[in-house]
Amino acid sequence: MFTQYFGLKFNPFTKEIQADKLFISQDLLELESRLQYLQNTRGIGLVAGEPGSGKSTALRKYVSELNPGLYKSCYFSLSNVTVLEFYQGLALELGEQPLHKKVAIFHQIQQAINSMYYERRITPVIILDEIHLASNKLLEDLRLIFNFKMDSQNPFILILAGQPLIRSKLTLNINNPLRQRLVVKYIMQGLKLEEVKDYCSSRLKLAGLIEDVFTDSAIEAITSSTNGLPRLVNSLVTNCLLYAYEKKQRHIDNEVVYQAQNELNI
Ligand SMILES: Nc1ncnc2c1ncn2[C@@H]1O[C@H](COP(=O)(O)OP(=O)(O)O)[C@@H](O)[C@H]1O
Ligand SMILES: [Mg+2]
Repeated sequence: MFTQYFGLKFNPFTKEIQADKLFISQDLLELESRLQYLQNTRGIGLVAGEPGSGKSTALRKYVSELNPGLYKSCYFSLSNVTVLEFYQGLALELGEQPLHKKVAIFHQIQQAINSMYYERRITPVIILDEIHLASNKLLEDLRLIFNFKMDSQNPFILILAGQPLIRSKLTLNINNPLRQRLVVKYIMQGLKLEEVKDYCSSRLKLAGLIEDVFTDSAIEAITSSTNGLPRLVNSLVTNCLLYAYEKKQRHIDNEVVYQAQNELNI
């Protein structure tokens, strides 16, 4: 296996990374500071970015660092629940036995959020991932559910995360009210050249390899063909390591990257 060849304890580019071992990218820092702000104001935030840019990973890290005595996190992805399942699931997570009618569930959710925040002093942090899959109806309903008119203090944090399409959906007139309520927004930019370099060497180090196997030309080629999207970087780098292993080549230059990229394109 290439891991043995390179003296790696595991492939650091496929393994699910623990939240505390993530690469601290500019994206991660910028998003964190916005989420920090949102934590103080509460209300609704938006994280958009290409698939594989690290949105879900960053949110997983954020949630893992919340004090469970002060925050109750609930995560849903529209790629694996229906809209009704989301409403029911949310009501359940907030401690309610979901009723049947949608309007009744909305009411339950609001009541549960209010009592959690005002009676138990716990802020619900609700993450709705893959929000670009939402219909305009769902976006409108979200605005209604998360509209706590009686108080200007938002008793919740709602984070919407999804692909860039969500931004154009939100610019539609009908979605104006929701867009206007966004307290923070962040668009993931992907890793910059220097970051790809640091990312590759720090991942290799994590798996026990200190030596720099990627040349500067390789890093440039990897950055330009992946746009710095972590998921694409991971798969291209893995393929580079495989290819170099097959050729018994200890160093990875741009030639190896092109060959590995070609294999991935097949
Ligand atoms: N900061 C990071 N450090 C290490 N790996 C990361 C980081 N951000 C993303 N990744 C990796 O990139 C892949 C894609 O990230 P993901 O969060 O699923 O993207 P998205 O939700 O934007 O589609 C994941 O497998 C994850 O392990
Ligand atoms: Mg995701």
